[in-house]
Amino acid sequence: MPAEVIDGKALAQRIRREVAAEVAELARRTGVIPGLTVILVGDDPASQVYVGSKQKASAAAGMNGTVLRLPAETPQVELLATIDRLNADPAVHGILVQLPLPRHIDERAVLERVAPRKDVDGFHPVNFGLLAQGAPRFVPCTPLGIRELLRDAQVETRGIHAVVLGRSQLVGKPMALLLLQKGPGGDATVTVCHTATRDPAALARQADLLIVAMGRPEQVTAEWVKPGAVVVDVGIHKRDGGRICGDVDFASVSQVASRITPVPGGVGPMTVAMLLRNTLQAARGAAPSASA
Ligand code: GUN
Repeated sequence: MPAEVIDGKALAQRIRREVAAEVAELARRTGVIPGLTVILVGDDPASQVYVGSKQKASAAAGMNGTVLRLPAETPQVELLATIDRLNADPAVHGILVQLPLPRHIDERAVLERVAPRKDVDGFHPVNFGLLAQGAPRFVPCTPLGIRELLRDAQVETRGIHAVVLGRSQLVGKPMALLLLQKGPGGDATVTVCHTATRDPAALARQADLLIVAMGRPEQVTAEWVKPGAVVVDVGIHKRDGGRICGDVDFASVSQVASRITPVPGGVGPMTVAMLLRNTLQAARGAAPSASA
């Protein structure tokens, strides 16, 4: 029987409506309108699209969504000064620096400069550390969105074997940490595979839950998947001819898995929905009633 498709688009729309209602309620109660500033350095075409959709989504939720577009040759000191200014601006609750950055800029220095309480991406070492310690505050949006998808689809993670393919700071590592948390959505036994892993397919075949974030188009085929496993595809690629695909070969894997996320319409829309949720959380933290 072909796998059931997990609809990320529908869940993301539902969450975005909920966030919009909560934004209106926060504004009514405290006068605070959540402000999100996205910084884009350079003109990477994919980043332009992502940043545009983040701004649109934040505006649609009733937030003040701003994009600061800086030229690719912006010196690092100037970018850091921009972040300092946003850190000090009470109307800005969330700051996101779109990655990747141009090569002359030290990504770590930039991510460390964002005030941890405005770090809606969850990439600051303080927020990453809190997640690793089991006391998460801001969690990176893509893994957070995956956890929501799994919860909504009532995928039990307690005691299962989850295999994460990929160890990036953006997805693989925080995903593994989330699945390791104590409590609902966590309590999994987690294996992380990466470029030096011997025979990742053999490990993947042991997974009850397979999270694929390798960054390689249609790499994972049916032979990598245990019958009945739940498969989450984080990749997004454009094939010659314009077809969009993920890291998973959907045609073959959907014949073996019990449930699977599609590309597009799976993890992607959830990332944006979680960014809005994190921004609302940041604004609530800064609202008068919270500090009174
Ligand atoms: N580039 C690709 N994904 C992301 C993300 O989630 N956050 C940021 N800041 N940059 C990205």
